[in-house]
Amino acid sequence: MEIVPCPDRQRAVALTARLIEARLRAKPNLVLGLATGRTMEEVYAHLVASGVSFAHCTTFNLDEYVGLPPDDPNSYISYMRHHLFDHVDIDPARANLPDGMAPDLTAAGAAYEARIAEAGGIDLQLLGIGESGHIGFNEPLSALRSRTRDKILTPTTRGQNAGMFGGDSSAVPKRALTMGVGTILDSRELVLLASGASKAKVVARAVEGPLTARISASAIQMHTCCKVVVDADAAAELE
Ligand code: F6R
Repeated sequence: MEIVPCPDRQRAVALTARLIEARLRAKPNLVLGLATGRTMEEVYAHLVASGVSFAHCTTFNLDEYVGLPPDDPNSYISYMRHHLFDHVDIDPARANLPDGMAPDLTAAGAAYEARIAEAGGIDLQLLGIGESGHIGFNEPLSALRSRTRDKILTPTTRGQNAGMFGGDSSAVPKRALTMGVGTILDSRELVLLASGASKAKVVARAVEGPLTARISASAIQMHTCCKVVVDADAAAELE
């Protein structure tokens, strides 16, 4: 694991976007794993501005809320359209998200895993980190070998994401369909981006603490090709 400290958020975001852009230019048919959340908004703005082509790329998002229809402004498909898909030349048929509206979520999780496998696996997975230590929506005590499945979101996560729901954490869906920790670890390369003081403690626990299912993000310590890009605020608790 390589820690990449950046002086501020702007540079951390720009560096992460440049890394993705470089991988896309080197391999136009990249299989790219995507994340949502506030941290990623500027990454996508940089990618759009770069003009890099997504025409041959296949994407797999980490997660989707359960029970939010695709046209709900807070669904992650809406987020992706708004921040990336509507502004680049991606083929919508190759832009994949878990189906949080599926009547059988277990089957939807297995189908998502099968689609990733059919695409040849994920080349590069972009990750954020939640205040609960989650990657994707793998809340504490997720099995380190878990696959795409339905997870109950913790009060910490629903509080963290309340801003998108008018500040009301009770309006945040209670469940999400998320890639598992094992799914994420199967990606050939990981890049985790963390920004801001609210992430400082959890970043330190994830990268310097023991490997533990209490902090799902600590699993990335096991990955042999993983960068953790941090701005100064998120790096504040690192030794
Ligand atoms: C989103 C996701 C989450 C977020 C994390 C950080 O698809 O999988 O793990 O990356 O919650 O979110 P922000 O950037 O809003 O702090």
